[in-house]
Amino acid sequence: MSRARHIAVIGGGLMGHGIALTMARAGHSVNVTDPVAAALATVRERIAASLVAMGAGDETETVLARINLHDGIAGAVQDAGVVFEAGPEKLAVKQAIFAEIETHIVPEAILASNTSVIQITRIMEGLNGRHRALGTHWWNPPHMIPLVEVVKTEWTDPAIAEAMFNLLRDTGKTPVMVEKDVPGFIGNRLQHALWREAIALVEHGICSAEAVDTVVKASFGRRLAVLGPLENADLVGTDLTLDIHENLLFDIDSRPEPSPFLRELVQHGKLGMKSGQGFRPWTKEQADAARARLARHLQRLEKILDN
Ligand code: NAI
Repeated sequence: MSRARHIAVIGGGLMGHGIALTMARAGHSVNVTDPVAAALATVRERIAASLVAMGAGDETETVLARINLHDGIAGAVQDAGVVFEAGPEKLAVKQAIFAEIETHIVPEAILASNTSVIQITRIMEGLNGRHRALGTHWWNPPHMIPLVEVVKTEWTDPAIAEAMFNLLRDTGKTPVMVEKDVPGFIGNRLQHALWREAIALVEHGICSAEAVDTVVKASFGRRLAVLGPLENADLVGTDLTLDIHENLLFDIDSRPEPSPFLRELVQHGKLGMKSGQGFRPWTKEQADAARARLARHLQRLEKILDN
């Protein structure tokens, strides 16, 4: 484990509670703040529930002993060497959070935003200490998905990015350095290239939503956890990859805006599991079962891949 650090987590929601859990589980002391009283009041119980869901319920007491709740940003970041911001995905809110953080924090602290898609450059552009600001894109659930993308802006001091990378690695995460601050970083660009084509297949009547999901789950999805796409391209040969691209890429969806089919779903209130209908219908039981299946799978996968 790395040297124990004082960590601050701003926003204790879905991501924030999992980031706090992960850092506390690795031995760090973690201050959490959230302006919504109900969110702050439930952080500890949500961390406890997530520990149980990931099969680490026996660590609850130890982990919770390292979590401190604070009413405001000032108290939370005062002693922190590293701050993870996991507030709402709104540029103005994030800019205001970092402006406030900067007035209370020690000069050598590292400031990180967990935004999924807003460019880090835009969030950090107003700061005095832009050299110590970067992105750390954790994936949901942050306590179970190993990857964290460490995103540099043009101002980020490489030594600061390296320090964050090492902290995350020593905490048991799998960090990857993103050298340029592009929308979607690496993972979401790849993931949404796939989702765009998945939606287009359904939109154009080529197959059902269920068929798309079955194809992925029953074929290349199985090997993705152990063989990345470029390893796979090397495995089959770059020559074969080129031949496939010559004959396929012209027909793959490349529209530079969201699919009209997706817009229509949203306009009609078909928002997915939370509304009972998205690309396909969901009862509450089916949605709960899908979430439980995912948690179980991630838990098992961690054990298998560790061996
Ligand atoms: P969430 O809605 O569960 O949590 C956000 C928390 O921020 C809430 O507890 C809310 O009370 C709090 N909050 C509201 N106003 C605030 C303020 N002014 N200052 C500090 N906290 C405030 O959202 P979630 O999913 O945890 O997302 C947090 C961030 O992480 C977002 O930027 C999101 O885009 C990003 N993210 C989300 C992922 C996901 O799958 N949910 C994955 C990766 C990143």
